[in-house]
Amino acid sequence: MTSFQPEKRLHVITWGCQMNVYDSARMTDVLRPLGYRPADTADQADMVILNTCHIRDRAAEKVFSELGRLRVIKETRAAAGLPTVLAVAGCVAQAEGAEILARAPYVDIVLGPQTYHRLPEMVARAARAGGAVIETDFPVEQKFDFLPDATGPQLPGGVTAFLTVQEGCDKFCSFCVVPYTRGAEASRPVASVLAEARRMVAGGVREISLLGQNVNAYHGEGPDGRAWSLASLMRALAELPGLARIRYTTSHPRDMGDDLIAAHRDLPALMPFLHLPVQSGSDRMLAAMNRGHTADDYRRLVDRLRAARPDLAFSSDFIVGHPGESDADFAATMALIRDIGFAQAFSFKYSPRPGTPAAGAPLQVAAEVGDARLQELQALVRQQQDRFNADSVGRSMEVLFTGCGRKPGQLSGRSPYLQAVHASGPEWLIGTTAMVQIDHMLTNSLTASLLPPVPSPVSDMPRANPLLERACA
Ligand code: SAH
Ligand code: SF4
Ligand code: F3S
Repeated sequence: MTSFQPEKRLHVITWGCQMNVYDSARMTDVLRPLGYRPADTADQADMVILNTCHIRDRAAEKVFSELGRLRVIKETRAAAGLPTVLAVAGCVAQAEGAEILARAPYVDIVLGPQTYHRLPEMVARAARAGGAVIETDFPVEQKFDFLPDATGPQLPGGVTAFLTVQEGCDKFCSFCVVPYTRGAEASRPVASVLAEARRMVAGGVREISLLGQNVNAYHGEGPDGRAWSLASLMRALAELPGLARIRYTTSHPRDMGDDLIAAHRDLPALMPFLHLPVQSGSDRMLAAMNRGHTADDYRRLVDRLRAARPDLAFSSDFIVGHPGESDADFAATMALIRDIGFAQAFSFKYSPRPGTPAAGAPLQVAAEVGDARLQELQALVRQQQDRFNADSVGRSMEVLFTGCGRKPGQLSGRSPYLQAVHASGPEWLIGTTAMVQIDHMLTNSLTASLLPPVPSPVSDMPRANPLLERACA
């Protein structure tokens, strides 16, 4: 039985990691049966969700300042007789739920990342009670078993999509809030992941990034009743007709099993670009951070991966200024970066997170020292990244065309290494892969020319992609 639901508008603001992007799409899915359709701005919306991140810096302050802005919108709408449901989701909601309700009593719903399937019930409760509703327990049930089927890519018509396969973390690195905000590690069953991937491909998706805070710890239940590894899951995904590319992020060096290394050798669809955070190149710091491996373990792992897939490029995360980090420790990190040679890296100044072991540790590093180290590290990484991009010029590689370019007649796409690539070509190439030669390096992208033979417009690839119906301007 379907009941009539008046159309309502929903605006979701997403901060933080890719998993939050995925989660925001799933919250939109779960609210659709209640009549909610997307709104571009908060002032047009009957419901606003602020999906927050707690990983660094003044996360909570940023949330309160945004809530202040949303409060004004809510009050203006109320004066015009339009009620607004205001919800705070994500990792700050999980960590600071009670504080949010105390400091921002105009918030109607606070919900942690593991309770998104309960959102419709919370909306109903908030409407009935007229008071705030908070859900930040970690429920025994897995939300994925209760969420409606994902509708496809996070962007309408998107050619690339995120798919969460694993969530939470049991590693408890000294500096990190994730084990507290996302809870214990849990994997989705293989069948549910494959079904979602199939729907995504039918919706036009050609590249899927498997997500997890610790994605290579994946151990979902397989159809045979056993726990499947990430490598086994990707072997099954690689069989899906129409799925051209697979990626996964974020992985922990400790969980790079032999079968995962072999998957990089065996699966052409698995892109040769691996984000493998190491955080530091100093064994002393790695121990203090509770990372569970040494800098040389990391070097050896990279060697083994490169042996399996010689064109594999690496990206990483670094933290400078973790409590106790000396000049020598920092020098060891710089040495590791020089040894490996990264195509890309994200680096952060250590930021004490409430409730984590490192926040209370002695020998906190002075802010100026952290700033100086960060600058030095970023300069080196920038150099390596520029060199990697410059080395791409003249190479031929496969590009997945994802949309229209900025100039007429131009398409935009991404290389196997997640570089933005622009090339002139027919619009029907959007949603397909083609070989190009890289011509030039610009500041944040590459330009390229299509190499013959250009794929023909009639191919056996499923063409459900709505973008293909749309003309580039
Ligand atoms: N699961 C991933 C990391 C997720 S958080 C892993 O194991 O590496 C993304 C990145 O944010 C981390 O890799 C780390 O570099 C950075 N980060 C996390 N907590 C931080 C903190 N307290 N201060 C500074 N950077 C932090
Ligand atoms: Fe955080 Fe990653 Fe460490 Fe887990 S493995 S605690 S998510 S940094
Ligand atoms: Fe942020 Fe939570 Fe992701 S803290 S990085 S949104 S897991």
